[in-house]
Order: sequence, then C-alpha cells, then structure tokens
Amino acid sequence: MPDSSMRLPAAANRQCTACSLKGQELALGLGHRYRLDHLLSHSTWGDIWQATWQQTGAVVVVKVPRQGLEPQAQALHRDSLRREGDFLRRLSHPYIVRLQCSGQWQGEPVVVLEKMHQSLKDYLGQLALDTRPAQLPQLATVPAAQALAWARQVAMALRSLHRSGRKHLDLKPANLLLSAPDASGRQSMRLADFGACLPLTHELHSFIGTPGWAAPEQIRPVGADSRGLPMFATSAASDWYALGQLLHRLLTGRLNAEGRQALLQWRTAGAQATWPIESALTPAPALLDDAPTWLASDPDAMRVRHAGVHPATGASRAQAPTSLPEQLGLAEKAPDAAAALELALALCCADPSQRLAAARQLLGED
Ligand SMILES: Nc1ncnc2c1ncn2[C@@H]1O[C@H](COP(=O)(O)OP(=O)(O)O)[C@@H](O)[C@H]1O
Ligand SMILES: [Mg+2]
Repeated sequence: MPDSSMRLPAAANRQCTACSLKGQELALGLGHRYRLDHLLSHSTWGDIWQATWQQTGAVVVVKVPRQGLEPQAQALHRDSLRREGDFLRRLSHPYIVRLQCSGQWQGEPVVVLEKMHQSLKDYLGQLALDTRPAQLPQLATVPAAQALAWARQVAMALRSLHRSGRKHLDLKPANLLLSAPDASGRQSMRLADFGACLPLTHELHSFIGTPGWAAPEQIRPVGADSRGLPMFATSAASDWYALGQLLHRLLTGRLNAEGRQALLQWRTAGAQATWPIESALTPAPALLDDAPTWLASDPDAMRVRHAGVHPATGASRAQAPTSLPEQLGLAEKAPDAAAALELALALCCADPSQRLAAARQLLGED
C-alpha cells in the first residue's frame, strides 16, 4: 500500500466490524462461491477469512477490505487489494502464494488465495512457546540449514518478483506463509501480501514498510513532497536487506542493531514518530542481551567486513577485528551457522548496490 499513514498501525481502528460477515456467501462469478467460515486475521487494513469454496469443498483464504474505515483509508485499501489480485493473476511461482480467484463482491474487491498452514510469525511464536517456555519469544531460532533453505526460497520468490518489475517493500515473518509439514516434516515458504508492492520504476514514494525490517533507505527520507511529507528512495535492493534481516532473525532470535533501534523508536513514539528516525543508526540499547550463547558478542561487528564501516563505532575495515565466527571458533564448531550469519550481514549492507552480490551467493549464482 503506497501511503505511509496506511501501513502504520492505528489503534483507533481496532473494533471488530468484520464478525458480522461470518457465514456470508460471496459469489465471485460462475463456479466461484465462497462461504466465510472463520476470521483468521483482522488487521488495520483488511480481514482475512478462512473460507470454503462451495463448489469443491476446498478450504481457501479470502481477503476483503476492512469495513468501517474512513472513506480515504477504505479507498486506499480497496486499491491495494485490487492491485494485489491483478498482480498475483500474472505471477505464478512455487514460492509465491497462489491466487485462487479474484473479483468483486458488493462493489468491494476480493482476493481468494490457497490456504497455507500458518505464517512464519505464528510459527516462530509457537516454536518459542514449545521449545523455550522460560525465555522471551523473540529468542526462538531455527537451525542454520533450515534458515538458509527458507531464505533461499524467499530469495527465489524475490528474484521472480523483481524480474516482473516490482519490489515488495514489506518482507517480514507476518508476510511469509508456510506450507503444512510434508511426510518428512519439511515446510516450504511462500511470499505473500503484495499490498505495498510498487513498480521498480516508482523510485521515490512516501513511507512504506515496517520499522525493524525495513532497509535504512526506507526509513531515512531523501526529501519531502509538496505537502512536506517525507519521501524515500527505494529499489529492489531494499527487499534484499529485509531478507538479510530475516536470516539474521532466524539465526540469532533478534533483529540486527539498526532494526532493533528502529523498532524501539517506533514503539516508543508510536504514531507520533517523525521521519527520519534520527537515531536509527546509533548503537541500539541492549534489548535482548540474552541471545544464544554462540552469539553473545555483538554480531554487528562483522558488518565492518562487508560495509567497510561499523554502524555503531565507525571503525573502518582496516581496523576490523577478526570476524565473530573466527573469534568464537564458530567456523569449526558450526560452519553453517557462521556462513549463514555472514550472509545475513552482507545482505544488510548499508550500501544497496553491494547487497546484490550477497543475494547472488544465496541463490547460488556467481
Ligand atoms: N493464504 C493464507 N493462508 C493462511 N494464512 C494466511 C493467508 N494469507 C494471509 N494469512 C494470514 O493473515 C495474515 C495477514 O495477511 P496479509 O496478506 O499479510 O494481509 P494484511 O494486509 O492484513 O497484512 C498473515 O500474517 C497470515 O497469518
Ligand atoms: Mg501483511
């Protein structure tokens, strides 16, 4: 959705107006009648229903615009959902959520998707409860091989998206969906929620993204529009940063320092936050000091090796200490994890032009 004010949470719009739709049948054309069974997600902008495709009995997911929003917000969400339907109709990829059908119901756009097992966000929350009841949910991590496999799948989805001339701009666990486990317990990942997606040619725009996951250029404006609203210059490389942040989160249980700082700032300032977040690149307070022991030192120190300059200390590459995996002997103890973390930090490089090399490495291209 291309308007900053529309992507950021607004507590004022939280009352449930969707529940009255339960049991409702949506007719979207011949052979496409869907019954809304169960509200899966009730976000500020839209309602996501588990539904039954009446003709086949198949379980699907139906996205409808949130009812009861103010007219301007409602119109923006309608546009965003219409674009999501149009976009998914043209793009089919094994790691992008599949469109079942899209159409209009009572003048509102409706998108019908394959039903996935759960979002990565819910998976990580569940994992934290199952495996680490005494610890913070943010500390749930997945094994390096799994993190890399998922990151590769998302990378393939991103490559296909970028080749279609679009950038996602809101890559995060809530917008990644997992398939049900197969016979050997494997779950694959699909990229979802294309409501914020923009053409690559649309380089300058108002704020889009989620603080914590967004690349630095998504939260640091390059200027203002005629109304004084901040404008941001993004590219396909902004998505590669978010993928690095995702890999970092899966491996370490936390966002990198910039991500933590941006999130903290946003949570503290809420809707009053002004852009840029001044201190986005200053050292983050220790929000989650009890990270996995093999990452007890600051993993961001390794960034010096990739970005040339440490974001917090300003140390240059020439002054860089040996990398964290080397310091911890991690390269011998857990070479996969060490390599995956290096990759995550390379993807999160401050210079967008350098992220592509790391993305190629992840995709296995030279
Ligand atoms: N196809 C799907 N299968 C299962 N759950 C889904 C599906 N699509 C969305 N969801 C659930 O709804 C949530 C919000 O969906 P999303 O497409 O991101 O819409 P929003 O615009 O509200 O962010 C997801 O995080 C996930 O929990
Ligand atoms: Mg979403």
